[in-house]
Amino acid sequence: MSTSLLPDTAAVAAGRLGVGGVALGDLAARHGTPLLVYDEATLHNRARAYREGLRAYPGPSRLAFACKAQSSVALLRVLLEEGLGMDVASEGELAFALAAGTPGDLLVVHGNNKSDADVAAALAAGAGLLVVDHDGELDQVERLAAAAGRVQPVLVRVNPAIDADTHRKIATGHAASKFGLAGGEAAAALRRAGSLEHVRPMGLHVHLGSQIASVDTYLEAAAWLAAFIDREGLGDLPLLDLGGGLAIAYADGDRAPDVRAAVAATAAGVAEQLGRRGLPAPGLILEPGRSIAGPAGVTLYTVGAIKTTAAGVTYAAVDGGMADNPRPAMYGARYRAFAVDRADAASTQAYAIAGKHCESGDVLIEAAELPELRPGDVIALAATGAYTSTMASTYNGLPRPAAVMVAGGEERVVVARETVADLLARER
Ligand SMILES: Cc1ncc(COP(=O)(O)O)c(C=O)c1O
Repeated sequence: MSTSLLPDTAAVAAGRLGVGGVALGDLAARHGTPLLVYDEATLHNRARAYREGLRAYPGPSRLAFACKAQSSVALLRVLLEEGLGMDVASEGELAFALAAGTPGDLLVVHGNNKSDADVAAALAAGAGLLVVDHDGELDQVERLAAAAGRVQPVLVRVNPAIDADTHRKIATGHAASKFGLAGGEAAAALRRAGSLEHVRPMGLHVHLGSQIASVDTYLEAAAWLAAFIDREGLGDLPLLDLGGGLAIAYADGDRAPDVRAAVAATAAGVAEQLGRRGLPAPGLILEPGRSIAGPAGVTLYTVGAIKTTAAGVTYAAVDGGMADNPRPAMYGARYRAFAVDRADAASTQAYAIAGKHCESGDVLIEAAELPELRPGDVIALAATGAYTSTMASTYNGLPRPAAVMVAGGEERVVVARETVADLLARER
């Protein structure tokens, strides 16, 4: 059995699939399902791969993990240990980053429609950078920073009108995207920021989208940015933030760049493009999310109903679905499943892995090749560490899953299972 889609520590012993030295079947028995399992070693490895890739950059560089991908406090703490800062996109995400112990100066605050509460929380936290997404936000930041007695360093998000090769719903740098300002407007916003008493312009931010498999897309952005910075005379700004977006492999045959090589190529590309124009290398920031947390996670489900329809589709229904992982329903995302206690058994059948929600679109995998399943079997979906729990809902009154972190043969619960009582607690 190939473990390439699974976390780095995945191994099969006596037919049982384990991660972090713990059998997944045992985790399911001890903690119930659905259960998110994070492999601490994979988080460390991927954070280090980013850091090593950035050594190709001649200037200073740093990383801010995109908390929207995964905001479990325990997971953020692991990444803080690796020296990463945090990219947050709301007052709520900021609270998770602070709960993990993120120092204010390592915070990068995003949002295309920040409320006063979002901005005030960022100011109160002493956020190192706030990324301005539209011109009116400068006035908002000026007003609130004045009230807080602070000068807020800002980046301005520019939209380079580059069509990244990814799903339309997660492409953010194309001309029709709701994010950022078009070139001329971004340059004007940076100039205006310089005239405000409580705002300090620090540089540009670009985020092209997510699940981007081609490094060429980043090199195209680097070339565009260098030309833009040159044309607009922005070469003296100290920072350049290239956002996140690197793709990961979800299913057999997926193209996923090697993190270290892709980051090194991108960093070298930025320096080269700027150098060609005689521009210095500003401090480079990257904001990875999916490519750090995604491969570190698997989700365990228990199989319940199994049936074959008149059309010949065999469904295996699991005890979760589109509420704990909306990605297949939202963008047709694909996943690979493993039968955790028969990991060595040959795949003999294709199952549609359905959830238990009241929608026909509640199908996690259209055709999963697996050994014959029986009710009670536990299956693992690989690469579910990003954009699952942070996007989860409680549709059909299903409480959200628990999460455990595994390392060195031990597990610890890092997110408690939600209960029906929790769901009722907000009702009046
Ligand atoms: C501004 C910004 N930075 C970083 C990211 C992280 O992207 P990814 O998880 O694809 O690395 C996102 C996600 O869309 C984002 O909006």
